[in-house]
Amino acid sequence: MIEFVLNGRAEAIDQADPNQSILEWLRTKKRLTGTKEGCGSGDCGACTVITGAPDKNGQIRYEAINSCIALIGSLQGKHLLTIEAFRGQPAHPVQQSLMDCHGAQCGFCTPGIVMSLIALHSESAPDADDHKLMEALAGNLCRCTGYRPILEAGRQALVQSWQPGSESHPARYLASANNADGLATTDDTSISSLEALNGHHYYAPATLPQLKRLLRAHPDARLIAGGTDLVLEITQQLKALPRLISLERVRELNGSQLEENRLVIGAATPYRQLHRQLSGLWPAFDHLLERLGSLQVRNRGTLGGNIANASPIGDMPPALIALDATLVLDGPEGARELPVEQFFKGYRQTDLKPGEFIYSIHIPLPEPGQRLFIYKVSKRLDDDISAVLGAFRLTLKNGVVQDCRLAYGGMAATPARARLTEAALLGKPWSQRSVEHAIKALGNDFSPLTDVRASSTYRLQVAGNLLHRALLENSELHHRDTPLMVTDYA
Ligand SMILES: Cc1cc2nc3c(=O)[nH]c(=O)nc-3n(C[C@H](O)[C@H](O)[C@H](O)COP(=O)(O)OP(=O)(O)OC[C@H]3O[C@@H](n4cnc5c(N)ncnc54)[C@H](O)[C@@H]3O)c2cc1C
Ligand code: FES
Ligand code: FES
Repeated sequence: MIEFVLNGRAEAIDQADPNQSILEWLRTKKRLTGTKEGCGSGDCGACTVITGAPDKNGQIRYEAINSCIALIGSLQGKHLLTIEAFRGQPAHPVQQSLMDCHGAQCGFCTPGIVMSLIALHSESAPDADDHKLMEALAGNLCRCTGYRPILEAGRQALVQSWQPGSESHPARYLASANNADGLATTDDTSISSLEALNGHHYYAPATLPQLKRLLRAHPDARLIAGGTDLVLEITQQLKALPRLISLERVRELNGSQLEENRLVIGAATPYRQLHRQLSGLWPAFDHLLERLGSLQVRNRGTLGGNIANASPIGDMPPALIALDATLVLDGPEGARELPVEQFFKGYRQTDLKPGEFIYSIHIPLPEPGQRLFIYKVSKRLDDDISAVLGAFRLTLKNGVVQDCRLAYGGMAATPARARLTEAALLGKPWSQRSVEHAIKALGNDFSPLTDVRASSTYRLQVAGNLLHRALLENSELHHRDTPLMVTDYA
């Protein structure tokens, strides 16, 4: 049984296909067709809805998500708001401003744009600046390219307040101080589950012992965290995933905390929740996390999912390898710790044994003289996967390279260190000459592929350029007040 609140009304579902997306359920079962399907892969934002789940203080935190790549089982204990919650009068300031500014251009993108802006409005109005506005809209594609009036409408709406027209307004909880009141009462420590007539199952345990029990009972089950990679197997490859175990509610896997010399992040913590803490320690993450997918993707996607997915162009693994981060893996044989670098065994192959899962990620805190540079190169600035990503942790003393870890994504079948290039830099002055000399070793470290994102020659050239860029940014002579994240266009 899963229980949640849809547009202010309680819902309980015990039999449904666990592979069904929220979008499909809304449109086919509830006939709520205001939410549109554009791509079905999390890229366009047409399907954006708002979900609300309690934060640590019991307050509901509302965020925009892509309903095409979120499964219905993920709704347990949440509020779900669709565009239909905002029909009727008075219009939400976002809707009114879109009308006033001629920002409502087509019926396909507009519902998603409205929902993204309402999520931003509920979280940040009236303090949201243009940066936040762009961030909120970066995951909503308008195919007619009419962004100017949409942005203008966003600016106008964000300075206005909103009150629901009546006490029974379907979105009343958005504006209520006691916004957890409407949530279905569930025993928070019970396993929520869905079963289909064809025997397919979705389990959402709430505790670690429950998770381990389920994994023992169902060794064939696939783990799902945010689902932003896994659900594409359903929507794009048309696979059926008969048994899913969700990590989303497992308390022990959620949240992050500072320990003596490291930050410990639960594997199922969504990016959105760890952004501030991580970039507070290592500022280079700030820009990386703004460019990883869209806000909708970051609201669901997790660090553990990114690592376990083992894509050679996943954004976080090179940065974690550069930082010498470690993983705690847990499973039938107990827990073990492994450097992230040793986790990747081949193209999309990992060191995970049957029944094992990533429990947490340990990121060392900065030491004196250490600096981290992360550069993502993609064809498009927002919501695009890397062609090449370079992450470099340097320890300099008196201008000499005492230690360096240079990790790249997109250069090999796995994220990997450029060990020969590192060796060429160690003990050398951090200078133009040493960097130019070291860059020559990159061709021996890597033989990158040519694919749709970039050619092999381009990848090698840009990998060297990124190291050069780190030199320029670190040099006092060239020091400029620019972000540590840059985009080049392939
Ligand atoms: C539109 C879009 C844009 C994207 N842009 C980017 C991008 O710019 N950069 C980038 O790196 N990625 C990007 N992604 C990919 C994806 O969002 C990330 O990889 C995300 O971190 C995956 O996390 P998740 O929780 O959604 O994983 P899920 O989809 O839930 O799981 C992914 C895989 O990991 C396994 N898994 C999950 N958690 C664990 C665990 N704790 N232990 C063991 N196995 C586990 C699952 O079984 C599955 O095989 C994008 C995805 C979409 C849809
Ligand atoms: S339909 Fe395009 S993001 Fe969901
Ligand atoms: S609003 Fe739909 S294409 Fe521009």
